[in-house]
Amino acid sequence: MPQLAINVDHISTIRQARGGAEPDPVHAAGICELAGAKGIVVHLREDRRHIQDRDVRLLRQTVKTRLNLEMANVKEIVAIALDLKPDMITLVPEKRKELTTEGGLDVISNEKKLRKTISKMSSAGISVSLFIDPDAEQIQASLEVGATYVELHTGRYCDAENEKERDQEFHLIEQAAELAFEKGLRVNAGHGLDYRTTTRIAAIPFIEELSIGHAVIARAAFVGLDQAVREMQDCIDRAGRI
Ligand code: PXP
Repeated sequence: MPQLAINVDHISTIRQARGGAEPDPVHAAGICELAGAKGIVVHLREDRRHIQDRDVRLLRQTVKTRLNLEMANVKEIVAIALDLKPDMITLVPEKRKELTTEGGLDVISNEKKLRKTISKMSSAGISVSLFIDPDAEQIQASLEVGATYVELHTGRYCDAENEKERDQEFHLIEQAAELAFEKGLRVNAGHGLDYRTTTRIAAIPFIEELSIGHAVIARAAFVGLDQAVREMQDCIDRAGRI
């Protein structure tokens, strides 16, 4: 079964709504780990809309599982990552006006810049994952630029408006996971996964980790973070019984 990594960005979104100190994503990360999460993910955006520099510095010191820093491939954030040395980084496209990451990276058009960053990260001992749509050409390009992982974008599967569309999107992810694995890439997946959509994705062989944020933080508002994480872990465990 894939491991569960929790993205705690939206704990910070709540904090930033008032500009104070609470709730603290560092505290949240500890609760997630104690509830069984095997990794913590944060996206340090250029506009600092949720996670702040102070958060990533403290998380680097406190996360006991794996810290995955989501980031755009831009000079300022690359320098922070090289200094911070998270366990891995996930490169994502970033637009100022988007509510959340909208689509996968275009690895083909950004090959040169990606190769440069991946080489710097490898020299610093940091693994690189590229967040891509489930597309054979993007997988091939990810391999060629030297990525260790790809994270397959599950957003379109989650947002599908009917079952036929959902099935089609599911099969694209399933095929992409197999192709990436066969080519020697390690495979993660995420975006938009919730308590209804996760089990089917978790049952796909080859996927090592699911990165899940919004659904868990939203559920935590009603049942608490510890239980919200455990319930998501149950969704993953159910995949073993399919
Ligand atoms: N993976 C990537 C690359 C993301 O950008 C995000 C959102 O920050 C996630 C996973 C988690 O998505 P969600 O918050 O919808 O679970």
